Amino acid sequence: MKITVTSGKPEAVHADALVLSLHADGDLPAAARSVDKSLNGVVTDLRRSNEFKGRRGEEIVVPISGGLPAKRLILVGLGPEAEFSPSALTAAVGAGVRAAARRGLSSIVFALPELKASDLEAAGELAAEGAVMATFDPASYRSKRETHTDAVKSVTLVATKAGAVRALKSGVNRGIVMGDAANIARRLVNTPSNDMTPSVMAKRAKEIAKEFGMKFHVLERADMKKLGMGSMLSVAAGSDEPPKMIAIEYRGNKKSKDILGLVGKGITFDTGGISLKPAQDMDAMKGDMAGGATVIAAMAAIAQLKPKVNVTAVICATENMPSGKATKPGDVVRAMNGKSIEVINTDAEGRLVLADGLCYARKLGANRLVDIATLTGAVVVALGNTTTGVLSNDRAFVDAFHAAADRYDERYWELPLYPEYADLIRSPIADMKNSGGRPAGTIFGAMFIKEFVDDRPWIHLDIAGTSTTDKDHGHLAKGPTGVGLRPLVRLAELLPTLRLNGKADEKAHARFRRS
Ligand code: BES
Ligand code: MN
Ligand code: ZN
Repeated sequence: MKITVTSGKPEAVHADALVLSLHADGDLPAAARSVDKSLNGVVTDLRRSNEFKGRRGEEIVVPISGGLPAKRLILVGLGPEAEFSPSALTAAVGAGVRAAARRGLSSIVFALPELKASDLEAAGELAAEGAVMATFDPASYRSKRETHTDAVKSVTLVATKAGAVRALKSGVNRGIVMGDAANIARRLVNTPSNDMTPSVMAKRAKEIAKEFGMKFHVLERADMKKLGMGSMLSVAAGSDEPPKMIAIEYRGNKKSKDILGLVGKGITFDTGGISLKPAQDMDAMKGDMAGGATVIAAMAAIAQLKPKVNVTAVICATENMPSGKATKPGDVVRAMNGKSIEVINTDAEGRLVLADGLCYARKLGANRLVDIATLTGAVVVALGNTTTGVLSNDRAFVDAFHAAADRYDERYWELPLYPEYADLIRSPIADMKNSGGRPAGTIFGAMFIKEFVDDRPWIHLDIAGTSTTDKDHGHLAKGPTGVGLRPLVRLAELLPTLRLNGKADEKAHARFRRS
């Protein structure tokens, strides 16, 4: 897909479809007025009749015969004008691309709304991300397709002012990298577990590392045994597929010893193990490696955008299967840092693999950690399917993450890690247990993982509710969303500009929470 930026009248650009992005309220912008005039007032008519309300991600397609060179007019919604932020452009451009692709159209021209000068870079990025992410094909296993999600080969973004083009273009270049990376993650997540084993994940990670010039290595079962990764291995025990602890290293600042560690849960299929899951919706557990996929893809983007930081990714890849060799409830295992764990529930396996993954990231020198995982069903109960759960031991670090996520149309909300919650993970026979009762399930998971971050600044992202979507909307088709990828890449970019003291500030965290 080629994305170009220009300014002037959108209808002057030859394309199969002309896309107008409109607010839910207010007057028609100048570009839309002139198109409306050429088409005898059809835009005004659709708005007046409420057939088009201008809601975020909403779209309506109008056939055109004459008046304009385009074959279709597509209206996409930006939501109410007062609530507008450039993040709305991702869904708007994406909706335009997907609507055009469904009709087999190969080029679109997208009339951008009026934008503040300070928003132009972000707007270019967000628009390009929408366009690229809209090409993702979740039905890649279908034998025959009538139309293709990648039908649109050319997108022209038209700015209202000529002076906006440069900044928009530089944003577009970032957006293409981010969008491609998000699609890499989505493809990994979408691939069923028979084709996405830990070995395949490792192979893909290796290819990506090689393509973008990053160091790569993988720990095999025997290596993990030597390092004392009894927690990770206890999850892999029931599977015939060999587990892989995958590491990718990006070095953007040779002078600095600081390393950002990104650790992803890579359960390529989660049956629950001996604590077997019910059959209902178990197929969705092919996506239980979404955190790991996001981390692999984030490294691809980081290697291309080249921030002046060091980043080490660790992906804990294994199946969670029941068998005669599987770990049983009540078994006690020991993680790489020597802590003993009573495995109450073998379905609480994500925290078990992350325990050793985080220890390993520390061993590789990471002194600031983010883990991302489809960890708990409880996060869906707490926050639903729109918002990712965030838990952290460090106020300044997590504030930096929020700042990094701010421009995107992804929602993040914190849950607390008060010291009182330490009781949750207490075990009568070991240092901790991996699961308890129903209360505070997401916090339980994070309190457990916190035992393995060696008091370094750390952020835990629980994407169990947000890693997939159950409906087509905006730039996203039903299926994997790529959530977390763009904020993580941007966090890596922002880190060198921040002054963080590098010690987990639990007191400040608790203080903040009490206020
Ligand atoms: N992979 C699941 C969490 C999950 C649930 C992801 C739904 C996506 C959608 C995780 O390994 C799990 O099974 N968690 C258990 C933890 C419990 C046993 C403490 C859960 O949430 O039920
Ligand atoms: Mn599980
Ligand atoms: Zn799981």
